[in-house]
Amino acid sequence: MKIGIDQLHLYSSHYYVDLKTLAVERGVDVDKFYRGIGQEQMAVPAPDEDVVTLGANAAQGLAAGGDLDDVELLLFATESGIDQSKAAGVFVHRLLGLSERCRTVELKQACYSGTAAVQLAVQYVARHPGKKALVIAADIARYELNSPGEATQGCGAAALVIAANPRLLCLEEEAGFYTEDVMDFWRPNYRSEALVDGKYSTLVYIRALEACWKQYEALSGRSLSDIDSFCYHIPFTKMAEKAHRKLCRSAGAALSASEMAAALDDSLKYSRRMGNCYTASMYVGLASLLEQSGRDLTGKRIGLFSYGSGCVGEFFSGIVQPGYQTMLQGALHQEMLRDRTELSYQQYEDIFNYRVPTDGGVYTFPEYRTGPYRLKGINGHKREYESLVESDESDSAG
Ligand code: CAA
Repeated sequence: MKIGIDQLHLYSSHYYVDLKTLAVERGVDVDKFYRGIGQEQMAVPAPDEDVVTLGANAAQGLAAGGDLDDVELLLFATESGIDQSKAAGVFVHRLLGLSERCRTVELKQACYSGTAAVQLAVQYVARHPGKKALVIAADIARYELNSPGEATQGCGAAALVIAANPRLLCLEEEAGFYTEDVMDFWRPNYRSEALVDGKYSTLVYIRALEACWKQYEALSGRSLSDIDSFCYHIPFTKMAEKAHRKLCRSAGAALSASEMAAALDDSLKYSRRMGNCYTASMYVGLASLLEQSGRDLTGKRIGLFSYGSGCVGEFFSGIVQPGYQTMLQGALHQEMLRDRTELSYQQYEDIFNYRVPTDGGVYTFPEYRTGPYRLKGINGHKREYESLVESDESDSAG
């Protein structure tokens, strides 16, 4: 039975900072950001957005289209969760109006858990072929102001429907996966910004990729030339390029700049403007590849490498399905990115320094530009969400 990604929708915030603004403020040559790390903009979440609203807004079109009626499993992957106990997916479940017959949990292993969710969802559908699983990967990447990681911040969410006879990408069985206990990037419970050993993290990323690829190659009997396109976890686009170059070099192939561009550029276009979306970032890359490639990718094999610091990695692959073009959301995603408001440095810093009140009082948050779901306020430590589309049904004390 074919199982895989039937639909893939993205969402990101309505605000961004151009990295030239950050470069001026930090006294850095802008080309360090534009070319050295390969990022042009970073999406900044408004104070009335969190991973719940990012995720719900990503899945909103699917719910509106009735595509979530057979969903019995909702897996919410994030490393910027809002509660130590309650799964963010439970809020999303209500906002989207999903059936009460639904298993809902939150998964965590840094940026990898979106792929863990996809693979668990595939197993679920194999056992219940008439049912679907909804995977939401949503994150807000935050590093300290004026730190090396600052320019690699971002935010966004991907909502994926996993189903039998998928209309986008049929996932193949073989996968190479790898776990190693390392401290390359982490965020203790008492911190709102990640800690990172930046250079070391890039080395562990490559080590995990090589180990995963070796397993995948042995299990599948495929070589690099059997893979038509690649999508990597994208903490910053240069990282994906370094990873691909290393993989090709290990296979004895040296890539020219134009070969590198042909291999990866389409998959990097959205990330260059959204920044790191942690769990969602490889799926942002997949959407970018499918939607931005001028080629017909039908029947092509895409290799996917997912990496989560700490660390867990996985290399797997999928075949693009006939008629996939009719399922793409490219026009919407491009409009979403085009329609954002650019922030000045001071506006960015003010939003960065904003904190949800923690004293248990009643607060209503000012309205920024958001998707149809927003964080309305907080009351007695309970987050309250609202739908700007159907406010009567969706208002709740959470
Ligand atoms: N013009 C062009 N290029 C320039 C330049 C200029 N004026 N100035 C510098 N550069 C180049 C540098 O030569 C360097 O290129 P190479 O990597 O090819 O050597 C590149 O720009 C970056 O410069 P630095 O190495 O000096 O950058 P840095 O040390 O200040 O920061 C970083 C780089 C450590 C990766 C930092 O961005 C960081 O900590 N990021 C967060 C951690 C991260 O994303 N790690 C990735 C792997 S972990 C993971 O994937 C999980 C996850 O999502 C976090």
